[in-house]
Amino acid sequence: MPVPSVPDRSPCAASGHPSFHYRGGELYCEDVAVAALVARFGSPLYAYSAAAITDRYATVRSAFGADAHVCYAVKANSNLSLLRHLDALGAGFDLVSGGELARLQAAGISAGQAVFAGVAKEPWEIEAALAAGIMLFNVESPHEIELLAAAGRARGVRVPVALRLNPDVDANTHAHLTTARKDVKFGVDLARAGTVVERITSDPYLQLRGYHVHLGSQLRAIEPWLAAFDRVAAFMAADPRRREGVQWYDLGGGFGIAYGQGEPLDVGALAAQLLPRIVAHGLRPIVEPGRYLIGDAGMLVTAVSGRKVGGATAFLLVDAAMNDLLRPALYQAEHPMAPVRATDAASEIVDVVGPVCETGDFLARKRALPALQRGDLLAVFGAGAYGSAMASNYNTRPRPGEVLVDGERVRLIRRRQRLEQLWEDEQEPA
Ligand SMILES: Cc1ncc(COP(=O)(O)O)c(C=O)c1O
Repeated sequence: MPVPSVPDRSPCAASGHPSFHYRGGELYCEDVAVAALVARFGSPLYAYSAAAITDRYATVRSAFGADAHVCYAVKANSNLSLLRHLDALGAGFDLVSGGELARLQAAGISAGQAVFAGVAKEPWEIEAALAAGIMLFNVESPHEIELLAAAGRARGVRVPVALRLNPDVDANTHAHLTTARKDVKFGVDLARAGTVVERITSDPYLQLRGYHVHLGSQLRAIEPWLAAFDRVAAFMAADPRRREGVQWYDLGGGFGIAYGQGEPLDVGALAAQLLPRIVAHGLRPIVEPGRYLIGDAGMLVTAVSGRKVGGATAFLLVDAAMNDLLRPALYQAEHPMAPVRATDAASEIVDVVGPVCETGDFLARKRALPALQRGDLLAVFGAGAYGSAMASNYNTRPRPGEVLVDGERVRLIRRRQRLEQLWEDEQEPA
């Protein structure tokens, strides 16, 4: 069916996906005015575009092909409705806790397509994942091997394992986002991994099914993935036992998005260069993108509370804060922003700050924005990943509501927290 053209539709340069665009000077998420969402559900508010998620999933799927297992990294945003949306698209899932497994189950999704990573899984988490028929445990600490073997013995099953290797590759990203250098807690060094493989392959209750690496987050270059695979391939080639029964190469997630600056990772180019190497070794790829699938599909809308000047700095005070979106304070992340109603107001340089009692409570520093006034709405883009998922109740602030927009349809997928919920677990038992 031909899509009716919307004559006054214009792109929003700050947004990472065309689902967010202007119509008649008003910001839209798909076919719904963002101001109307705030009028209905309040501010601050997380809004996600279903079409943007679908679009990004299709990009990853077509780049890596039908033989790849595409696992959404649940940690990026674990809302049940978003998990169901990704499940309907055919995604598997990358879990890092028993809590995430429970979420998957609460969403009615089978764990048979899920991989379970994490540097120190607890016995109850291993038990729960085994009982749920998890596809693969990504193992990265030697003591976990003993826990998994014991769990397999107790159940009389062979536990499917992929060993997470640390190939010591520089991912050229923020120090807190790099995960495959020496002296980080993740993975097993290649020099130590041979012994771990021997331990796995000699145990009747374990089966080595693959190798896993995850280089870090927000990578934009392809070379680190190529270098990591070449090191893993050399590791496998050194001893036939390292290759026996191995079917999967899990290259992790970390596909970078633009955040308004530079280029996002070219996922097609990554697949075009890496896939032939993986296939030449008789392996199938697993990919675990989180941010790439959901980051640009979500925005945080916040209302301007006021303005003030301190020293030489102009502050734009907004009703969202570091407890709603931690990334700027934690990683100095720069989220693109744009007014919800397009304006001709002159641009000014401001610090966009929330009401939380921390100097580190900012959403942007030294940002050029059109002058906004109390009551105006500001859209913070690239907030779908690690936004709501990292939100807290610091300063006894309730978490924002979340909506999923699909064309003209709007679904409230998380209610704004009520204040009483914040202390309900603190009451004395009756
Ligand atoms: C093992 C693993 N896989 C996948 C991801 C997802 O990373 P991203 O959201 O950057 O794609 C992470 C993030 O920390 C991770 O630790």
